[in-house]
Amino acid sequence: MKILVTGGLGFIGSNFILKLLRESDDFEIVNVDAELYGADKRNLSEIKNNKKYEFVKGNITNRHLMEEIISKCDLVVNFAAESFVDRSISDANPFLVSNIRGAFTILDIITKQKKRMVQISTDEVFGSLSSGTATEESKLNPSSPYAATKAAAELLINSYCVTYDSDVIITRCTNNYGPRQFPEKLIPKTIILANQEQKIPIYGKGQNIRDWIHVDDHCNGIMSLLLDGKSGQSYNISGNNEVDNTTIVKKILDVMGKSEDLVEYVEDRPGHDFRYSMSSNKISKELSWKPKISF
Ligand SMILES: NC(=O)c1ccc[n+]([C@@H]2O[C@H](COP(=O)([O-])OP(=O)(O)OC[C@H]3O[C@@H](n4cnc5c(N)ncnc54)[C@H](O)[C@@H]3O)[C@@H](O)[C@H]2O)c1
Repeated sequence: MKILVTGGLGFIGSNFILKLLRESDDFEIVNVDAELYGADKRNLSEIKNNKKYEFVKGNITNRHLMEEIISKCDLVVNFAAESFVDRSISDANPFLVSNIRGAFTILDIITKQKKRMVQISTDEVFGSLSSGTATEESKLNPSSPYAATKAAAELLINSYCVTYDSDVIITRCTNNYGPRQFPEKLIPKTIILANQEQKIPIYGKGQNIRDWIHVDDHCNGIMSLLLDGKSGQSYNISGNNEVDNTTIVKKILDVMGKSEDLVEYVEDRPGHDFRYSMSSNKISKELSWKPKISF
């Protein structure tokens, strides 16, 4: 079975590709990545000579290229996206291009070629929840330009599923952590700065709450859904680890034996969502998925 993975040089895509190749001989992978922000070739250097892996430097908005590649693949998993919320606040345009136009390009092609696509979306599409937990039926209510582009892609996909019966599954996941994460993200950044005895900036009062899941648990969920998820459905994937930012940073400092004085509270991100929360009951019930790695 040949799987097209887009954005495979990034954090989650690279972990997904390595997992597929490590755990089964059944898969061949084509990775299309434009080497934009978040990409790191070193993430997949260990498989660069693997006969079951092919890298194509290309943009998912390139219709001609994507038509050709998708025609040779059985399934598509679309990780490719501009993924840094702060950058979407400085300039949203690249987010519209990759996250909406790019996702749409793949959607339209897989519909015409009758292939299956998994769209990797995010808990951020539900916006900030002061209480309660989002289910798959909850209202999309994105706050940041990043989240709005991910929600827009979801709406296009839903319209195609209704209109053309496209074979697409949407996954929404909470905050991932694990190997190959970009050093600007909270957990790797804290470790790197603490190691250098440098101040660790935390937005606002550090009370914002995120749910954390190990990237390997996320990839397990995607794999199950790719093979056995119900077409036209969305599935939330969460780790049941809702923690505020200050608690995470202080825990890392404690484990590293560093002083809490390294914490420095800085001006908050505009429109910073206070809390994300999702239930993953649906994927647990339908596919017996559950997170295995404790936070
Ligand atoms: N990191 C998280 O915690 C998290 C949580 C939920 C959902 N997601 C979603 O998972 C996906 C992957 O996230 P990540 O953290 O691995 O991101 P990342 O930024 O590490 O990687 C994204 C990759 O996509 C590539 N890319 C971007 N636009 C492209 C385009 N137009 N054409 C081809 N390649 C392009 C980049 O070059 C990069 O290699 C994204 O869709 C993101 O929205 C991430």
